[in-house]
Amino acid sequence: MNFKKTILCIGAGYVGGPTMAMIAYKCPQYKVTVVDINPERIAQWNSDDLPIYEPDLGEIVKTARGRNLFFNTDIEKGIKESEIIFVSVNTPTKTYGTGAGMAADLQYWEKTARQIRDCADSHKIVVEKSTLPVKTALAMERILTSMNNGIRFDVLSNPEFLAEGTAIKDLEDPGRVLIGSRETPDCLKARDALVEIYANWVPKERIITSNIWSSELSKLVSNAFLAQRISSINSISALCEKTDANIIEVSRAVGMDSRVGNKFLNTSVGFGGSCFKKDILNLVYICRSQGLDEVADYWEGVVKINDYQKERFILNMLSAMFNTLAGKRICLFGFAFKANTGDTRESPAISIAGRLAEEKADLIITDPQALKNAMIALSDVNGEIDYVKDPYDAAAGCDAIAVMTEWDIYAGLDFEKIYKSMTKPAFVFDGRNILDHEKLFEIGFNVYPIGKPALTHF
Ligand SMILES: NC(=O)c1ccc[n+]([C@@H]2O[C@H](COP(=O)([O-])OP(=O)(O)OC[C@H]3O[C@@H](n4cnc5c(N)ncnc54)[C@H](O)[C@@H]3O)[C@@H](O)[C@H]2O)c1
Repeated sequence: MNFKKTILCIGAGYVGGPTMAMIAYKCPQYKVTVVDINPERIAQWNSDDLPIYEPDLGEIVKTARGRNLFFNTDIEKGIKESEIIFVSVNTPTKTYGTGAGMAADLQYWEKTARQIRDCADSHKIVVEKSTLPVKTALAMERILTSMNNGIRFDVLSNPEFLAEGTAIKDLEDPGRVLIGSRETPDCLKARDALVEIYANWVPKERIITSNIWSSELSKLVSNAFLAQRISSINSISALCEKTDANIIEVSRAVGMDSRVGNKFLNTSVGFGGSCFKKDILNLVYICRSQGLDEVADYWEGVVKINDYQKERFILNMLSAMFNTLAGKRICLFGFAFKANTGDTRESPAISIAGRLAEEKADLIITDPQALKNAMIALSDVNGEIDYVKDPYDAAAGCDAIAVMTEWDIYAGLDFEKIYKSMTKPAFVFDGRNILDHEKLFEIGFNVYPIGKPALTHF
């Protein structure tokens, strides 16, 4: 079949897989190929057991796969055959050398740029989909054109704003699609080509364009603002606990001011996910390298409050349970960093589990989608850890339940039954404030929400 456009995506992860599946699903006239260096991941994308869990992703992939959506490991062939190449490789925090623990590790991105340069034999539009430090497109251009072989590359920035857990909804009906480019006639033409793809299903007024550096920076700033809101409300939850104020009431009152807005004002044990911390630290690093220490300090505070919130959770548990957790069985309800995903990267549950293990507690972990990733995430943690799919079985015989993830199923459980099966006194630490605290208290639990007075029988 003759396709109208050939599109390649390098990197078949949480972003590359779903975004390309959506383009292929909405645009049967385009051939979309997703490649990766990891053959196992590609095999999973070609199977019924996809490598990531996202509601409705399976249906979208099933519809398009084999029709105009293809997954393989032949990166070289993919580059040669495609007109538009999305780069969606991982850009984790650097763990070595200069900028360790702060800067983005650009090694995967750089390798990809070189590979595109080496394999391309015709004009390519290269789209930065990964989240990258501002000015990365300049380095991308320098690498791509370093062979001086007359092949033209137009680099665009098109950061991804999807949220895991709602990726398909976000891709199908995005708040905005941002495309940054240089202002040269060639780059503007390339930008139009990318606009044309999204315009197949995204209303034109939601496809916004900007200069390329604004686009790169907007992604880091978006994540910084989102995380800042969580840290802001979490910092106030600590004050509520000291003053008998109730964070839910405070959030409601504050959020009803339309200038503030009521979204993203839920307190919790802390934010997680592969992006927020990494992107803020990257922003902090960039600010410091530009001599903007005050700005860097301001944003670094968001990460510090997040760490503080997790530690506060542990200290609250310790103090509620008579200052010793040694030998106590503690059940973590949820391990994914948020509901509706199996992703556990930077999940607060990882540090909570690590700290509980340090306190010599025995851990029982339950999660509808994330147990496999939880096992990997905790492989270095010493101590007794059991992984149990069924939440009733997981809680039986435990001293405490700590809610780590806001999965809907947890609010609907039969807590009378759970209470009966637990060791007494039985505790609930609701790290997401999703349970009915008064009801749990009536059943007999000692209940510790976040940012609300505890309900205890002592
Ligand atoms: N996960 C999210 O919710 C999200 C949202 C928006 C933006 N982002 C950004 O998107 C980028 C990708 O994130 P992700 O969560 O999809 O990461 P991921 O780790 O799930 O996927 C990245 C993939 O790239 C592959 N890869 C690495 N080097 C490669 C190479 N040289 N050639 C081919 N494949 C290679 C890896 O094998 C991996 O499968 C990051 O920059 C991230 O910050 C992520």
